[in-house]
Amino acid sequence: SDRYAVVGNPVDHSLSPQIHTAFAAQAGEDLVYEKLLAPLDRFTESAQTFFAEGGRGLNVTVPFKLEACELADALTERAAAAGAVNTLVYGESGNLLGDNTDGAGLVSDIRNNLGWTIQDKRVLLLGAGGAARGALLPLLAEHPSQLHIANRTAAKACQLADEFSHYGAMTAGGLDQLCGGFDLVINASSASLGNQLPPLPEHLFTSTGRAYDMVYGAKPTPFVHWARELGVEAADGLGMLVGQAAEAFYLWRGVKPRVEPVLAQLRRTLT
Ligand code: ATR
Repeated sequence: SDRYAVVGNPVDHSLSPQIHTAFAAQAGEDLVYEKLLAPLDRFTESAQTFFAEGGRGLNVTVPFKLEACELADALTERAAAAGAVNTLVYGESGNLLGDNTDGAGLVSDIRNNLGWTIQDKRVLLLGAGGAARGALLPLLAEHPSQLHIANRTAAKACQLADEFSHYGAMTAGGLDQLCGGFDLVINASSASLGNQLPPLPEHLFTSTGRAYDMVYGAKPTPFVHWARELGVEAADGLGMLVGQAAEAFYLWRGVKPRVEPVLAQLRRTLT
């Protein structure tokens, strides 16, 4: 059977083997999916060895997404824009294609699992790091009426909006300059990872506004908790995780797996 793996450091906690094994069973695809712990200074060697030994594809996680971008022989447009690769595909002629399915996973979770619309909505993206960067192109493709990037360090948000300006219209600023009126607020900051809530005004949402945190956990993240306290419908990023995996699986196998049963199963094991 064909070999795939998730490479990271640390990688022990990764849910990707569980997700892809479930996808494979569902689609009747014969594959094995492993965890590959690469030494912090040996990503390239580890990936090259994996492919030399017959590996067909890798998912790349922290902290190797930038190095994977450099390793790839060719990049999809969304990976080039993100400047980061989370999926490597070994091609027939031995070349490595780098893609980034994180943003597509986010958008498909919002649209297909949650049933929320992005088109013609006012969208706020919190954060200006790698996670925000990866989400920009797929979000713009949904044609929100407004896309505003707000970051603790305002200059980083403005720089990101500048860099992406040829893909679509965006505004940017600091968290302290935020006004309200957003239909969808996506937390792409890493604040939740440190169990922190970015300093946000309470009047951020419209009456039907929704909140999405890219981070997930057994308990609601601080951002999800805060939004729900305000009466705002809120979701964490578990569906994004399964969604990016589904996009990777499609790239590798040409089959689109059904996300919903796998997401429900993961949610049960998480709580
Ligand atoms: P990632 O790859 O997860 O995006 P990153 O590139 O290190 O990680 O970016 C982290 C982002 O979260 C940044 O936008 C950071 O804001 P600054 O640019 O001002 O550092 C944001 N962030 C981290 N902790 C935060 C907190 N407690 N409140 C608000 N924003 C936070």
